Amino acid sequence: MSQIKAPVEPFRVKTVERIKLTDRRERETILKQAGYNVFNLPAEKVFIDLLTDSGTSAMSDNQWSGLLVGDESYAGARNFFHLESAVKNIFCFKHVIPTHQGRAAERILFEALVKKGDYVPNNIHFDTTRANVEVRGARAVDLVIDEAYDPDSIHPFKGNMDLEKLKKFIEKKSARKIPLVMMTITNNSGGGQPVSVKNIKEVSQVCKQHKIPFFFDACRFAENAYFVKKREKGYEKKSILEIAQEIFSYGQGATMSAKKDALVNIGGFVTVDDDLLAEKLKNLLILSEGFPTYGGLAGRDLEAMARGLEEVLEEDYLEYRINQVAYLGRLLDEAGVPIFKPVGGHAVYLLADRFLPHIPRHQYPGWALTVALYREAGVRAVEIGGVMFARKDEKTGREIFPRLELVRLAIPRRVYTSAHLEYVAEAIIDLYKNREKVRGLRIVRESRYLRHFTVRMEEV
Ligand code: F0G
Repeated sequence: MSQIKAPVEPFRVKTVERIKLTDRRERETILKQAGYNVFNLPAEKVFIDLLTDSGTSAMSDNQWSGLLVGDESYAGARNFFHLESAVKNIFCFKHVIPTHQGRAAERILFEALVKKGDYVPNNIHFDTTRANVEVRGARAVDLVIDEAYDPDSIHPFKGNMDLEKLKKFIEKKSARKIPLVMMTITNNSGGGQPVSVKNIKEVSQVCKQHKIPFFFDACRFAENAYFVKKREKGYEKKSILEIAQEIFSYGQGATMSAKKDALVNIGGFVTVDDDLLAEKLKNLLILSEGFPTYGGLAGRDLEAMARGLEEVLEEDYLEYRINQVAYLGRLLDEAGVPIFKPVGGHAVYLLADRFLPHIPRHQYPGWALTVALYREAGVRAVEIGGVMFARKDEKTGREIFPRLELVRLAIPRRVYTSAHLEYVAEAIIDLYKNREKVRGLRIVRESRYLRHFTVRMEEV
């Protein structure tokens, strides 16, 4: 189909999971039952599932065998110590506190640090991070560089924070009102774009000047480190581990959803330097997650995480991973399909408003594209646009739409082959050729918060 070369997988397949392509008529019925919302689809009726890269990784034989040495003691399980040493090796902070996933780490961290009326800057907050800040009565503020919102700008580090914006913000609100600054690597809500070490260092200097703690949302830290190695001067010869260690040396702690770069299906942690803060976090952990050596996970889960954190640093894995995502991007781009550029670390994003220019924003072109993609090819993607992020004007009730109307094709780690991605690309290219047939949608029923998960729609 294309002259572009697919990356070679640095693994071979030992176990397979069957997937089955339904026929178009069946998918039509399923869509109707699902209220035209792909979150309501039974996963078994999806052929290629690109809904998320979170918790969808394939574990290695090394990780699976680790499950058998799970120590299920309530306290002090040996797997905790394996995890602690794997995390400390990379992040180099003093305390490691496991949680069941990323948002639990965020919740306890913000509960310990953030109070009503505070502000938390980030390059761009991921939704759960934003929600966990705002539930404290504080404001989550995005201070990413302007290029992040321009789908055509080829900035190599589009996830960078805007230093001037940060300095002005601290001046305006005063450091007393800013309990921490966060940095999301890679920047998921901005297209999975990396942040440079230079930018991280500069942000850390500003924070230090104002005595504001600096934390990382580190879910995709290894992918970020790989981009640094490839794109940032002076890092070509450094190992992924060395780059990660340098990145974390500029901060005071991190939250982690291990469902991404620790290559597991469930898990997370928070890691910090400060003894007093660690004490507080452990107390909060005990309330809802569990004892500090298991944090809501089984011993076997801790072992899989520890092993995943070692595997994710392997350069041949990362090269294949980043190139596989780029490969899908290139297939689409070559065929003229409008995508967000450059392609990020974990997903390709379609520019739905350019893909379906005949559908106005209030008929949700991104959502329409996810429906069409499932109907035509059994592929599941996720809308990151008007349904997910529109705000309602309090007076008029009219929707105010986000700048970008995107559809994310997130690639699970080590799961799909290049042939699967070629199938996805072909389906999208076909859809693009017949784009005028795709119809917009109207909302039949919605909930007040996070409506995309439960909304029901009909086609216009
Ligand atoms: N931070 C970032 C940058 C994320 O992408 C996610 C999850 C979280 C925090 C929360 O982690 O799910 O383990 O509680 N992102 C997933 C996604 C859900 O599809 O992008 P979690």
